[in-house]
Amino acid sequence: MKRKKITIVGSGNVGATCAHWAASKELGDIILIDVVEGVPQGKALDLMEAAPIEGFDCNIVGTNNYEDTADSDLVVITAGIARKPGMSRDDLLSTNARIVASCAEQAARYSPNAYIIVVTNPLDIMAHVALKASGLPPRKVIGMAGVLDSARFRTFIALELGISFEDVSAFVLGGHGDDMVPLVRYSYAGGIPIEKLIPAERIASIVERTRKGGAEIVNYLKTGSAFYAPGASVIQMAESLLKDKKRILPIAAYLQGEYGERDMYFGVPAIVGGGGVEKILEVDLTDEEKVQIAKSVESVRSLLKVVNL
Ligand code: NAI
Ligand code: 2OP
Repeated sequence: MKRKKITIVGSGNVGATCAHWAASKELGDIILIDVVEGVPQGKALDLMEAAPIEGFDCNIVGTNNYEDTADSDLVVITAGIARKPGMSRDDLLSTNARIVASCAEQAARYSPNAYIIVVTNPLDIMAHVALKASGLPPRKVIGMAGVLDSARFRTFIALELGISFEDVSAFVLGGHGDDMVPLVRYSYAGGIPIEKLIPAERIASIVERTRKGGAEIVNYLKTGSAFYAPGASVIQMAESLLKDKKRILPIAAYLQGEYGERDMYFGVPAIVGGGGVEKILEVDLTDEEKVQIAKSVESVRSLLKVVNL
């Protein structure tokens, strides 16, 4: 069986961490690409030299040239500027739009059959930029945010209850911003609704911490943003795509009528498999949840206008 080929654009914190998780799961051969000379080459070689110790068989190559990315099965775009303290995700908009458009266009030229997972912020807008620049169909261009936001939500629920992280299922709808919507009614610990286990005021505080989960890490790190959980989130999506696992994952997908919206990326649960985004799942929402979703839609739409999309 031919190994899969995974290109990771941007060899910074998130890109390198994606390579690490992908190698440890033997998802395929990995190309790290960046504009900075030496960094992708050095990180790729360093990671490959862990192979005899960790026992994974993947070739990992660093480059500054898109020709080396040709015929990739998956391209992960992490290239851009990371968020600094005091900077909102939205401040990053125009610089990152230029970077992502150029990366998506070049990557798709060399790998016209690839899936693209976009990570760069502001996420929902960058996924849209990558869709337009790549010319790929919407089902193959996916944004990563919901898996991360839900993982944070699940972490805080498990910590609150003092239980295994594995036993918590929960998901977050909406754009990857401060008005994302952690869906309490659809969140369970060991199959039991969390509302039956955690007092309402503690749930409210967990929801708030989830919404500000990215900023919490930025405030600690000061010189950059989160990368371990983001990298793991990307690779969970990658695995479902490349192995056709058909997992239900919260992802940023291109809406074409679902949830009453069209022509925009937004965080929704979807079946992710060999066909890319195979089906967006619509869940019933209360009036209050609908108001929160509308607010998040409005935030994404206002940023799309800035980049004329
Ligand atoms: P970083 O600064 O460590 O890495 C970014 C890399 O992109 C750098 O190595 C830089 O040289 C490279 N780069 C810049 N322009 C490029 C170009 N034109 N082509 C190729 N490479 C280029 O940043 P980090 O921490 O890796 O974050 C990357 C992006 O991911 C940021 O926009 C960050 O906000 C976003 N992010 C999004 C998350 C999400 O949930 N969607 C989670 C975590 C980070
Ligand atoms: C995060 O949520 C920075 O968007 C990134 O950690």
